[in-house]
Amino acid sequence: MTFSLSRGAYPNTRLRRLRAQDFSRRLIREHQLTCDDLILPLFVIEGRDETQRVASMPGVERLTVDLLADKARELAQLGIPAVALFPVVDPAHKSEDARAAYDANGLAQRAVRELKNAVPELGVLTDVALDPFTSHGQDGLMNDSGYIVNDDTVEVLVQQALSHAAAGADVVAPSDMMDGRIGAIRAALEREGHVNTMIMSYAAKYASAYYGPFRDAVGSAGNLKSGSKVSYQMDPANGDEALHECALDLQEGADMIMIKPGMPYLDVVRRVKDELRVPTFAYQVSGEYAMHCAAFDNGWLNREAVIVESLLAFKRAGADGILTYFAEEAARLLQNS
Ligand code: PBG
Repeated sequence: MTFSLSRGAYPNTRLRRLRAQDFSRRLIREHQLTCDDLILPLFVIEGRDETQRVASMPGVERLTVDLLADKARELAQLGIPAVALFPVVDPAHKSEDARAAYDANGLAQRAVRELKNAVPELGVLTDVALDPFTSHGQDGLMNDSGYIVNDDTVEVLVQQALSHAAAGADVVAPSDMMDGRIGAIRAALEREGHVNTMIMSYAAKYASAYYGPFRDAVGSAGNLKSGSKVSYQMDPANGDEALHECALDLQEGADMIMIKPGMPYLDVVRRVKDELRVPTFAYQVSGEYAMHCAAFDNGWLNREAVIVESLLAFKRAGADGILTYFAEEAARLLQNS
C-alpha cells in the first residue's frame, strides 16, 4: 500500500483532528467487536448439579451436563452465537484406543443433546481429537515407539465426528492436526446425511506452550507423558506452512478455519485472511486467558479495558470470530457500553 502525500503533510494534515471528538472517532472507526464475534469454550464434567473451579483459569468453571441448559439460556440472552464443548473425561474411560471418543452416550454427546434441546438456536461446536480419551493424553493413537499414527487415528476421528453430528452438533471442530482428517470427516458426514453439519478446522494449530491451563482444565496434563505434540502440531517458527495447512483443509471441505493460539499469532490470522478470504477464526487460548487474569488480579492491567482491546485486536487482524474464555464477560461489557 502506498500513501498519497498529495494532501500535503503537517500542518495541512493533522491526524489528531479526527481524534479530537467522539463523533469523528466513531465515524472513522474501522473495526468493531460485537457479541456476534464470540464463541465461549465450555468444560463439561460427569455428575449432577456441580461446578468445579479450574485453578489456572480463575473464573472458569467446569459444569455438569444438567447445568448446561441454564447456561445456554444465559448465553443466548447475551447474544453469544455459539459455544465450544470440551469434555473432562473420567480416567476410567481413557484407553489406548480412545474408544470412549465415539460413544453415542459419552459426555460430549450428552452435552450436545442437552444444549440443543434447551436452546436450539445456540450453535454448538464440538472438539474432534482424542486427547481427552487416550490414556497417554496425546491427540491420536500411539504406536509402540511412541509415534502418533496418522491414518488409524483419522478413522477414529471420523467415528467421533459422526457421533457428535448424530447427537446434534452444528459444527465439528477437529483440533488434532492429523493429515487428511477434514476430507475423511466431510466424506463421512455427507455419506451419513449430515450435509449441513459444518466443519471448523483447527487448520493452523501450533505446538504451543500456551495450552498448559487447558490441559489442567480437561485433566490431560498429568497423562501427557511426553508433553510434546510437535510431531503433529505446527512449529511456532512457521508462517508459510499455516497457509498450506489452511488451503488443504479448505480443499478437503472445511467451512471455516481457525488459527491457534491467538494473540501471539495475529500475523498468521492476517496472512490467512488476506490470502484465502474465507471465514477465519482465532482461539485466544487458555494460557492467554491465564496471563491476562494474573495481571488483572495483581492490579497491573485494567480488566474491562484490556479484555475488549485484546478481542478487538483479533478483529483488526482479520478474524471473523474469536473463541475466548472471556466471551461471556465481554458480551456483558459490550451490552453495557
Ligand atoms: C485438544 C485441544 C487443546 C486445546 C483445544 N483442543 C489442547 C492441546 O492441543 O493440547 C487448547 C485450548 C486452550 O489452550 O485454551 N485437542
